Amino acid sequence: VIRPVRWTGEALELLDQTRLPAEEVWLRCTTPEEVADAIRRLAVRGAPAIGIAAGYGAVLGLRRGDAPEAVGELLGSTRPTAVNLRWALDRVLGAADPLAAAEAIHADQEAADAASAAHGAELFAAADAERVLTHCNAGALATGGCGSALGVVLEAHRRGRVEHVWVDETRPLLQGARLTAYELQAAGVPHRVVTDSSAGLLMSRGLVDRVVVGADRIAANGDVANKIGTYPLAVVAARHGVPFVVVAPSSTIDLATPTGDAIPIEERDPAEVTTDAPAANFAFDVTPAELVSAIVTERGVHRAPYERSLSWTSAALET
Ligand code: MRU
Repeated sequence: VIRPVRWTGEALELLDQTRLPAEEVWLRCTTPEEVADAIRRLAVRGAPAIGIAAGYGAVLGLRRGDAPEAVGELLGSTRPTAVNLRWALDRVLGAADPLAAAEAIHADQEAADAASAAHGAELFAAADAERVLTHCNAGALATGGCGSALGVVLEAHRRGRVEHVWVDETRPLLQGARLTAYELQAAGVPHRVVTDSSAGLLMSRGLVDRVVVGADRIAANGDVANKIGTYPLAVVAARHGVPFVVVAPSSTIDLATPTGDAIPIEERDPAEVTTDAPAANFAFDVTPAELVSAIVTERGVHRAPYERSLSWTSAALET
């Protein structure tokens, strides 16, 4: 399993995801500023991995004697949509032993990924191996464990329930073509990269049995923020009766955000899209809960109505 985040005792080491798949380069961060920079420029990315990195980054700041508020502001302002970032910072900055809290976030994520993978794999048809489509990268590189959406796909593949994976290239930064393809190749899972606009054709020809994606924030009503291009996938999937499954740890569920309308959408530097024309570079979109067939977390499979099944007290889960 690829491990993108390492704590050495003195420093945070990050596998630089901007350089993959061409080169495996490790960054050594000894200050929270270096961690903030790595998060901002996507050297470490994916909601859970961002949370883990921010947790260790906070430890570096506190060790240096920085005020918790200043550390929270520095790291918390790096990326607005992934709620795991704020969640992890609150846990570490409020802890009696910040390093133990950061290490627990990391370990809990590994356990959550493994549990989600097992729950999600149960959704796959027992009879016929499926052709799955995924968007962006929600694998080990994005979570620090075995992956959320890709963890489910890999587990289902191990059980003989996945024939092939369509990998959306994921414009503009190619997390699918560069990172998901890299992980699937390492795991020996048959796959092909397609342009993001291919989903309509693939589904209309009956070539997709299931869409499985990750999430950056899930509102209390089940609306899902994920990489830009996820919402149109859900629309096309609904048009063709293809199940649309979201996989995320419960730390991605934000019960304080009632609906997707309240989720802040990150807008990145237009230069990532083009240098010779005015551009708007939205990094995420929101898929309405009504288009989501199931949300898989480490606690089980959540179904609509999500207001009820996502709440902490609910026992209404398929496990
Ligand atoms: O901009 P990124 O690469 O951080 O966006 C990542 C995604 O959208 C992932 O699907 C999401 O964070 C879930 S990762 C398990």
